[in-house]
Amino acid sequence: MDLKQLNAFIAIADVKSFSAAASKTGLSQPTLSRLLKQLETDMDVELIDRYHRPLHLTEAGAFFYDKISTILTEIDTVTSMTQRLSAPSSGLNIGFVPSVLYGLLPEVIAKLKQSSPDIEVNLKDISSYQQIDALKSGEIDIGFGRFAHQDPWIQQILLRHERYMVALPKGHLLADIDEQRLIDLANNRLILYHQTHLPIATTAAATNATTHKVDRKKASSNKQPSLEPVTEPLLHLFAQYGISPFMTTTVSDLQVALGLVAAGEGITLVPASLKTVRTEQIVYRRLLHENATSPIYLHTLKDFVHPKIPDLLSAIYQVYERRGITYRQQSFTSQR
Ligand code: BEZ
Repeated sequence: MDLKQLNAFIAIADVKSFSAAASKTGLSQPTLSRLLKQLETDMDVELIDRYHRPLHLTEAGAFFYDKISTILTEIDTVTSMTQRLSAPSSGLNIGFVPSVLYGLLPEVIAKLKQSSPDIEVNLKDISSYQQIDALKSGEIDIGFGRFAHQDPWIQQILLRHERYMVALPKGHLLADIDEQRLIDLANNRLILYHQTHLPIATTAAATNATTHKVDRKKASSNKQPSLEPVTEPLLHLFAQYGISPFMTTTVSDLQVALGLVAAGEGITLVPASLKTVRTEQIVYRRLLHENATSPIYLHTLKDFVHPKIPDLLSAIYQVYERRGITYRQQSFTSQR
Protein backbone atom coordinates (compact mmCIF):
# COMPACT_ATOMS: atom_id res chain seq x y z
CA MET A 1 0.00 0.00 0.00
CA ASP A 2 1.41 3.43 -0.85
CA LEU A 3 0.37 7.09 -0.84
CA LYS A 4 -0.29 7.16 -4.60
CA GLN A 5 -2.80 4.32 -4.27
CA LEU A 6 -4.46 5.93 -1.27
CA ASN A 7 -4.75 9.32 -2.99
CA ALA A 8 -6.20 7.65 -6.09
CA PHE A 9 -8.80 5.86 -3.95
CA ILE A 10 -9.77 9.14 -2.19
CA ALA A 11 -10.00 11.01 -5.51
CA ILE A 12 -12.29 8.36 -7.04
CA ALA A 13 -14.39 8.05 -3.88
CA ASP A 14 -14.78 11.87 -3.64
CA VAL A 15 -16.28 12.27 -7.12
CA LYS A 16 -17.64 8.71 -7.65
CA SER A 17 -16.37 8.54 -11.23
CA PHE A 18 -13.08 7.53 -12.89
CA SER A 19 -13.31 10.26 -15.55
CA ALA A 20 -14.05 13.07 -13.03
CA ALA A 21 -11.23 11.78 -10.76
CA ALA A 22 -8.91 11.75 -13.79
CA SER A 23 -9.58 15.43 -14.58
CA LYS A 24 -9.26 16.32 -10.89
CA THR A 25 -5.92 14.58 -10.39
CA GLY A 26 -4.37 14.93 -13.85
CA LEU A 27 -3.84 11.13 -13.95
CA SER A 28 -5.26 9.01 -16.77
CA GLN A 29 -8.29 6.77 -16.14
CA PRO A 30 -6.26 3.55 -16.70
CA THR A 31 -3.65 4.76 -14.16
CA LEU A 32 -6.33 5.50 -11.55
CA SER A 33 -7.98 2.16 -12.21
CA ARG A 34 -4.63 0.34 -11.85
CA LEU A 35 -3.77 2.14 -8.57
CA LEU A 36 -7.18 1.29 -7.11
CA LYS A 37 -6.88 -2.36 -8.20
CA GLN A 38 -3.40 -2.62 -6.61
CA LEU A 39 -4.71 -1.17 -3.34
CA GLU A 40 -7.63 -3.60 -3.28
CA THR A 41 -5.33 -6.54 -4.07
CA ASP A 42 -2.85 -5.52 -1.33
CA MET A 43 -5.69 -5.25 1.19
CA ASP A 44 -7.67 -8.17 -0.22
CA VAL A 45 -10.81 -6.00 0.11
CA GLU A 46 -13.17 -4.62 -2.53
CA LEU A 47 -13.41 -0.89 -1.75
CA ILE A 48 -15.44 0.39 -4.72
CA ASP A 49 -18.34 -1.36 -6.44
CA ARG A 50 -17.67 -0.65 -10.14
CA TYR A 51 -20.93 -2.12 -11.44
CA HIS A 52 -23.06 0.91 -10.56
CA ARG A 53 -22.95 4.45 -11.93
CA PRO A 54 -22.18 6.71 -10.16
CA LEU A 55 -19.64 4.41 -8.51
CA HIS A 56 -20.50 3.17 -5.00
CA LEU A 57 -18.24 2.62 -2.02
CA THR A 58 -18.69 -0.83 -0.51
CA GLU A 59 -19.42 -0.88 3.23
CA ALA A 60 -15.73 -1.68 3.89
CA GLY A 61 -14.75 1.06 1.39
CA ALA A 62 -16.87 3.66 3.23
CA PHE A 63 -15.22 2.73 6.54
CA PHE A 64 -11.74 2.90 4.94
CA TYR A 65 -12.54 6.24 3.25
CA ASP A 66 -13.62 7.78 6.53
CA LYS A 67 -10.51 6.70 8.45
CA ILE A 68 -7.90 7.07 5.73
CA SER A 69 -8.98 10.58 4.67
CA THR A 70 -8.31 11.78 8.26
CA ILE A 71 -4.87 10.17 8.15
CA LEU A 72 -4.06 11.72 4.74
CA THR A 73 -5.09 15.17 6.03
CA GLU A 74 -2.73 14.65 8.97
CA ILE A 75 0.09 13.69 6.60
CA ASP A 76 -0.53 16.95 4.66
CA THR A 77 -0.49 18.93 7.92
CA VAL A 78 2.75 17.34 9.11
CA THR A 79 4.38 17.86 5.69
CA SER A 80 3.38 21.52 5.60
CA MET A 81 4.53 22.07 9.21
CA THR A 82 7.88 20.41 8.49
CA GLN A 83 8.38 22.65 5.44
CA ARG A 84 7.59 25.71 7.54
CA LEU A 85 9.99 24.60 10.27
CA SER A 86 12.79 24.28 7.78
CA ALA A 87 12.05 27.67 6.19
CA PRO A 88 9.80 29.82 8.40
CA SER A 89 8.12 32.65 6.49
CA SER A 90 9.26 36.12 7.48
CA GLY A 91 5.71 37.50 7.18
CA LEU A 92 2.98 36.89 9.72
CA ASN A 93 -0.36 35.70 8.28
CA ILE A 94 -3.22 36.52 10.62
CA GLY A 95 -6.74 35.12 10.29
CA PHE A 96 -9.52 37.01 11.99
CA VAL A 97 -13.30 37.07 12.31
CA PRO A 98 -14.83 40.43 11.30
CA SER A 99 -15.92 41.35 14.82
CA VAL A 100 -12.31 41.56 16.07
CA LEU A 101 -11.38 43.89 13.22
CA TYR A 102 -13.90 46.42 14.60
CA GLY A 103 -12.24 46.00 17.98
CA LEU A 104 -8.61 46.15 18.95
CA LEU A 105 -6.96 44.29 16.07
CA PRO A 106 -5.84 47.43 14.17
CA GLU A 107 -4.35 48.89 17.37
CA VAL A 108 -2.59 45.60 18.17
CA ILE A 109 -1.04 45.48 14.68
CA ALA A 110 0.12 49.09 14.99
CA LYS A 111 1.74 48.26 18.36
CA LEU A 112 3.45 45.17 16.89
CA LYS A 113 4.84 47.24 14.01
CA GLN A 114 6.32 49.72 16.52
CA SER A 115 8.39 46.95 18.09
CA SER A 116 9.08 45.08 14.81
CA PRO A 117 9.12 47.78 12.10
CA ASP A 118 10.20 45.33 9.35
CA ILE A 119 7.47 42.79 9.92
CA GLU A 120 5.16 42.01 7.00
CA VAL A 121 1.63 41.37 8.25
CA ASN A 122 -1.07 39.80 6.04
CA LEU A 123 -4.65 39.87 7.31
CA LYS A 124 -7.26 37.32 6.19
CA ASP A 125 -10.96 37.52 6.97
CA ILE A 126 -11.83 33.91 7.82
CA SER A 127 -14.44 32.26 10.05
CA SER A 128 -13.46 30.74 13.41
CA TYR A 129 -14.09 27.23 12.13
CA GLN A 130 -12.12 27.67 8.88
CA GLN A 131 -9.19 29.14 10.84
CA ILE A 132 -8.40 25.65 12.15
CA ASP A 133 -7.87 24.18 8.65
CA ALA A 134 -6.06 27.36 7.57
CA LEU A 135 -3.62 26.98 10.49
CA LYS A 136 -2.96 23.35 9.59
CA SER A 137 -2.40 24.07 5.90
CA GLY A 138 -0.11 27.01 6.67
CA GLU A 139 -2.43 29.58 5.08
CA ILE A 140 -2.37 31.48 8.39
CA ASP A 141 0.09 31.45 11.32
CA ILE A 142 -2.36 32.70 13.92
CA GLY A 143 -6.14 33.09 14.18
CA PHE A 144 -8.33 35.38 16.25
CA GLY A 145 -11.81 34.00 16.75
CA ARG A 146 -14.67 33.81 19.20
CA PHE A 147 -14.97 30.04 19.67
CA ALA A 148 -12.92 27.49 21.57
CA HIS A 149 -11.78 24.57 19.41
CA GLN A 150 -10.84 21.11 20.62
CA ASP A 151 -8.31 19.89 18.10
CA PRO A 152 -5.13 17.92 18.85
CA TRP A 153 -3.07 20.17 16.54
CA ILE A 154 -4.24 23.48 17.94
CA GLN A 155 -3.51 25.45 21.09
CA GLN A 156 -5.51 28.46 22.15
CA ILE A 157 -5.30 31.34 24.57
CA LEU A 158 -8.42 32.99 25.92
CA LEU A 159 -7.54 36.68 25.62
CA ARG A 160 -10.59 38.25 27.22
CA HIS A 161 -14.37 38.28 27.46
CA GLU A 162 -16.14 41.16 25.73
CA ARG A 163 -19.61 42.26 26.84
CA TYR A 164 -22.48 41.80 24.37
CA MET A 165 -24.57 44.92 23.65
CA VAL A 166 -28.07 45.10 22.20
CA ALA A 167 -28.29 46.79 18.79
CA LEU A 168 -31.73 48.40 18.35
CA PRO A 169 -33.09 50.57 15.54
CA LYS A 170 -33.25 54.24 16.56
CA GLY A 171 -36.81 54.99 17.58
CA HIS A 172 -37.39 51.47 18.96
CA LEU A 173 -39.64 51.40 22.06
CA LEU A 174 -36.76 50.10 24.20
CA ALA A 175 -34.12 52.44 22.74
CA ASP A 176 -34.12 54.80 25.74
CA ILE A 177 -33.48 52.09 28.34
CA ASP A 178 -29.77 52.07 29.23
CA GLU A 179 -29.59 48.57 30.70
CA GLN A 180 -31.61 45.93 28.89
CA ARG A 181 -32.92 42.56 30.08
CA LEU A 182 -33.06 39.62 27.66
CA ILE A 183 -36.65 38.87 28.68
CA ASP A 184 -37.74 42.34 27.46
CA LEU A 185 -36.07 41.71 24.09
CA ALA A 186 -37.74 38.35 23.46
CA ASN A 187 -40.76 39.83 21.64
CA ASN A 188 -38.56 41.16 18.84
CA ARG A 189 -37.25 39.46 15.75
CA LEU A 190 -33.68 38.47 16.65
CA ILE A 191 -31.17 38.64 13.79
CA LEU A 192 -28.61 35.81 13.98
CA TYR A 193 -25.31 36.03 12.12
CA HIS A 194 -22.77 33.54 13.56
CA GLN A 195 -21.13 31.23 11.02
CA THR A 196 -19.64 28.94 13.66
CA HIS A 197 -21.85 27.32 16.28
CA LEU A 198 -21.06 26.24 19.80
CA PRO A 199 -19.88 22.68 20.36
CA ILE A 200 -22.88 20.53 21.32
CA ALA A 201 -21.40 19.54 24.69
CA THR A 202 -21.60 23.14 25.98
CA THR A 203 -25.23 23.69 25.04
CA ALA A 204 -28.64 22.87 26.46
CA ALA A 205 -32.02 23.50 24.79
CA ALA A 206 -33.54 23.72 21.27
CA THR A 207 -33.50 26.08 18.28
CA ASN A 208 -33.93 26.50 14.55
CA ALA A 209 -32.20 28.53 11.83
CA THR A 210 -33.34 30.81 8.94
CA THR A 211 -36.57 32.72 9.59
CA HIS A 212 -38.30 30.93 12.38
CA LYS A 213 -41.32 31.71 14.47
CA VAL A 214 -41.50 30.06 17.86
CA ASP A 215 -44.91 28.65 18.78
CA ARG A 216 -45.02 30.02 22.30
CA LYS A 217 -48.29 28.29 23.19
CA LYS A 218 -46.84 24.97 22.19
CA ALA A 219 -43.54 25.78 23.85
CA SER A 220 -45.15 26.72 27.16
CA SER A 221 -47.58 23.80 27.17
CA ASN A 222 -44.75 21.39 26.44
CA LYS A 223 -43.49 20.47 29.90
CA GLN A 224 -40.70 18.18 28.61
CA PRO A 225 -37.53 20.18 27.93
CA SER A 226 -36.37 19.63 24.36
CA LEU A 227 -33.32 17.39 23.97
CA GLU A 228 -32.09 19.21 20.87
CA PRO A 229 -29.13 21.42 21.89
CA VAL A 230 -29.00 25.17 21.18
CA THR A 231 -25.74 25.67 19.34
CA GLU A 232 -26.34 29.17 17.92
CA PRO A 233 -24.48 31.47 20.35
CA LEU A 234 -27.16 34.20 20.70
CA LEU A 235 -29.97 31.67 21.12
CA HIS A 236 -27.80 29.82 23.60
CA LEU A 237 -27.52 33.00 25.64
CA PHE A 238 -31.31 33.47 25.68
CA ALA A 239 -31.79 29.75 26.45
CA GLN A 240 -29.59 30.09 29.54
CA TYR A 241 -32.36 32.31 30.95
CA GLY A 242 -35.10 29.95 29.73
CA ILE A 243 -36.10 32.41 26.97
CA SER A 244 -36.84 31.72 23.26
CA PRO A 245 -37.02 34.83 21.06
CA PHE A 246 -40.38 35.22 19.32
CA MET A 247 -38.84 35.08 15.83
CA THR A 248 -35.35 34.70 14.39
CA THR A 249 -33.79 35.47 11.01
CA THR A 250 -30.37 34.13 10.09
CA VAL A 251 -28.09 36.17 7.83
CA SER A 252 -24.61 35.58 6.44
CA ASP A 253 -22.59 37.98 8.59
CA LEU A 254 -22.47 40.67 11.21
CA GLN A 255 -22.57 43.58 8.74
CA VAL A 256 -25.77 42.26 7.16
CA ALA A 257 -27.28 41.77 10.63
CA LEU A 258 -26.54 45.40 11.52
CA GLY A 259 -27.92 46.48 8.13
CA LEU A 260 -31.21 44.77 8.96
CA VAL A 261 -31.30 46.39 12.40
CA ALA A 262 -30.65 49.78 10.76
CA ALA A 263 -33.59 49.06 8.41
CA GLY A 264 -35.85 48.40 11.42
CA GLU A 265 -36.15 44.66 10.64
CA GLY A 266 -35.19 43.44 14.09
CA ILE A 267 -32.62 43.59 16.86
CA THR A 268 -29.37 41.75 17.49
CA LEU A 269 -26.63 41.36 20.08
CA VAL A 270 -23.06 42.28 19.15
CA PRO A 271 -19.73 42.46 21.00
CA ALA A 272 -19.20 45.94 22.50
CA SER A 273 -16.46 46.84 20.00
CA LEU A 274 -19.13 47.11 17.30
CA LYS A 275 -20.91 49.97 19.07
CA THR A 276 -19.56 52.62 16.74
CA VAL A 277 -21.02 51.02 13.58
CA ARG A 278 -24.02 52.69 11.82
CA THR A 279 -24.77 54.93 14.78
CA GLU A 280 -26.99 57.15 12.64
CA GLN A 281 -29.60 54.39 12.52
CA ILE A 282 -28.69 52.13 15.45
CA VAL A 283 -28.47 52.60 19.22
CA TYR A 284 -26.37 50.22 21.32
CA ARG A 285 -27.43 49.45 24.88
CA ARG A 286 -25.75 47.45 27.64
CA LEU A 287 -27.18 44.15 28.79
CA LEU A 288 -27.89 43.83 32.49
CA HIS A 289 -26.61 40.24 32.55
CA GLU A 290 -22.91 40.10 33.42
CA ASN A 291 -22.34 36.71 31.83
CA ALA A 292 -23.60 37.96 28.44
CA THR A 293 -20.11 38.05 26.96
CA SER A 294 -18.33 36.93 23.82
CA PRO A 295 -14.83 35.47 24.29
CA ILE A 296 -11.84 36.34 22.09
CA TYR A 297 -9.41 33.47 21.47
CA LEU A 298 -6.00 33.40 19.88
CA HIS A 299 -5.31 30.11 18.07
CA THR A 300 -2.07 28.73 16.77
CA LEU A 301 -0.53 25.34 16.01
CA LYS A 302 0.74 23.39 19.04
CA ASP A 303 3.99 22.26 17.49
CA PHE A 304 4.90 25.25 15.42
CA VAL A 305 4.62 28.74 16.87
CA HIS A 306 5.68 31.42 14.40
CA PRO A 307 8.70 33.29 15.86
CA LYS A 308 6.81 36.61 15.86
CA ILE A 309 3.82 35.36 17.87
CA PRO A 310 5.34 36.09 21.32
CA ASP A 311 5.84 39.72 20.16
CA LEU A 312 2.22 39.81 18.97
CA LEU A 313 0.97 38.52 22.33
CA SER A 314 3.03 41.13 24.12
CA ALA A 315 1.56 43.85 21.82
CA ILE A 316 -1.95 42.64 22.73
CA TYR A 317 -1.21 42.85 26.47
CA GLN A 318 0.29 46.33 26.07
CA VAL A 319 -2.90 47.49 24.33
CA TYR A 320 -5.02 45.96 27.14
CA GLU A 321 -2.91 47.71 29.77
CA ARG A 322 -3.12 51.07 28.02
CA ARG A 323 -6.90 50.75 27.83
CA GLY A 324 -7.32 49.38 31.36
CA ILE A 325 -8.82 46.10 30.08
CA THR A 326 -8.79 43.21 32.55
CA TYR A 327 -6.93 40.14 31.28
CA ARG A 328 -5.00 37.15 32.57
CA GLN A 329 -1.52 36.87 31.08
CA GLN A 330 -0.83 33.50 29.42
CA SER A 331 1.85 32.01 27.24
CA PHE A 332 2.10 29.15 24.77
CA THR A 333 3.20 25.72 25.90
CA SER A 334 5.74 25.09 23.15
CA GLN A 335 7.55 27.96 21.51
CA ARG A 336 10.42 27.41 19.14
C1 BEZ B 1 -9.41 42.28 21.40
O1 BEZ B 1 -10.35 43.00 21.02
O2 BEZ B 1 -9.21 42.00 22.57
C2 BEZ B 1 -8.46 41.78 20.36
C3 BEZ B 1 -8.85 41.78 19.03
C4 BEZ B 1 -7.96 41.28 18.09
C5 BEZ B 1 -6.72 40.84 18.44
C6 BEZ B 1 -6.36 40.84 19.76
C7 BEZ B 1 -7.23 41.31 20.72
